[in-house]
Amino acid sequence: MLKSIQSYDYQHVGDFDFKALCDLLANESYDLAASEIKTLLKQVDLNTLPFVDDSYVRSIMVNNQHYWLGLLNWDKGAKTRIHGHPEQAFVYLVKGRLSCKNFAKETLSELGNSDLGEGEYRYSKGVKGRVDNYIHQINAKEKSVSLHFYSDDPTKGEVFDL
Ligand SMILES: [Fe+2]
Repeated sequence: MLKSIQSYDYQHVGDFDFKALCDLLANESYDLAASEIKTLLKQVDLNTLPFVDDSYVRSIMVNNQHYWLGLLNWDKGAKTRIHGHPEQAFVYLVKGRLSCKNFAKETLSELGNSDLGEGEYRYSKGVKGRVDNYIHQINAKEKSVSLHFYSDDPTKGEVFDL
């Protein structure tokens, strides 16, 4: 049976311009965004993020009609289903190590595997209006925290199971 993934609203203590960060990401200014993320992370107490054994939990920072921004807190060994994304997807590894497996859409064959280390980020730009872009599966090799940005609610992403 598939477990449901829990989501919480993140409460920020401190002054940080979340809209400015989302605008940088939406405009694909990823290097500038990464430096803003470092500023943000100085104000975030990672130890207070919701956590669930053997799974991952979403802490939602921004969720509106323009974009979605949030932190994912992963237990070691937790993994997503094979899933697609809206037009824009961005992931920044705050701590730990995530393994990302990419798939070809037509055959769902594996394209390759790569790890994301602390301070590294990945992004993809797909087809607007679709939620089957950038099909992949993420697996936490260690307890990890990652920051994600999407141009739409990620829970709409199409799910593919082998
Ligand atoms: Fe994803």
